Amino acid sequence: MEGYRRFLALLVSALLLGFVAVVCSIVWVLRYREGLGWDGGAAEFNWHPVLVVTGFVFVQGIAIIVYRLPWTWKCSKLLMKFIHAGLNTIAMILAIVSMVAVFEYHNARKIPNMYSLHSWIGLTAVIFYSLQLFLGFAVFLLPFAPVPLRAALMPIHVYSGLLIFVAVIASALMGITEKLLFSLQSPAYSESPPEAIFVNCLGLLIVTFGALILWMASRPHWKRPPEESAKVQRPNGGAPEGVEAESTMTDCSNADRSDAGFNSEAARKRNFKLDEAGQRSTM
Ligand code: HEM
Ligand code: HEM
Repeated sequence: MEGYRRFLALLVSALLLGFVAVVCSIVWVLRYREGLGWDGGAAEFNWHPVLVVTGFVFVQGIAIIVYRLPWTWKCSKLLMKFIHAGLNTIAMILAIVSMVAVFEYHNARKIPNMYSLHSWIGLTAVIFYSLQLFLGFAVFLLPFAPVPLRAALMPIHVYSGLLIFVAVIASALMGITEKLLFSLQSPAYSESPPEAIFVNCLGLLIVTFGALILWMASRPHWKRPPEESAKVQRPNGGAPEGVEAESTMTDCSNADRSDAGFNSEAARKRNFKLDEAGQRSTM
């Protein structure tokens, strides 16, 4: 794989930053806020930042780059789809629970709902995320969608997936700022108390994590090579646009398949050429 060490360095950094961001969100609510609980009070609200940072930011980020891990290229595409869809489903569930927490808290305290830009962008991201998940399952996982439909939807799927991820990060930053402005009274946010510095750093971690994920997901030469059997169908080695050669094999142990394009510079180059032509080589 071209630039394997660079990919690995970015991956390890992203995982580390994302993990530290999750830990910081937990430390924030346990050390500086009212802890975690499910009583309609502040402790219930606190599940909101913890679950969105864990699910909607960290788990979604991993789901986005999971196809790009070079050691998974010997696994069947079907298995990788299950992993990608499974991680996105976990992120969705955590996001929904976090929504329940914040709406219940607002209703219990008689605070108006959906008045802020944060809540507009946030809820829009959740709605589009569930649509993306549903369409992803219906079009790319279930075997019913015709190939031209898969081909037409793939660029939209990738674009909207990345856009939602960016919107989630923007919403998280707005939420963090709001929360600090609301809850830091004496000393105020503007006086930079330790909590403010700590949580500003959490925001920086989230932005850097997002930047690394977006970089890895937008490098054409780190994309998963086309399935070998699709390449066999085309003597020039490339899978025709919209064609997905799905194997029923779902493990990563098949030695024959492990030759298939895994670590193969030729496969990478073929894949890169397809990209230059603006095509998605794999669906
Ligand atoms: C409220 C979504 C992250 C803090 C809300 C509401 C939504 C939402 C839909 C409206 C609830 C209502 O009106 O009853 C999201 C999404 C996030 C996210 C999708 C994903 C990144 C965060 C984070 C924080 C936060 C990281 C940091 C503490 C708040 C606060 C409110 C709120 C303080 C109440 C004030 C308001 O309605 O704007 N969030 N949120 N949010 N969220 Fe978030
Ligand atoms: C690729 C996002 C759900 C199937 C991608 C990519 C993104 C993305 C950003 C580009 C990855 C890359 O270029 O390496 C999302 C989001 C989802 C979601 C945010 C949920 C809300 C699903 C589901 C399926 C699916 C449920 C069904 C299996 C695929 C496939 C690819 C893909 C087949 C192409 C992988 C490749 O290029 O080899 N998705 N996705 N996605 N996604 Fe999803």
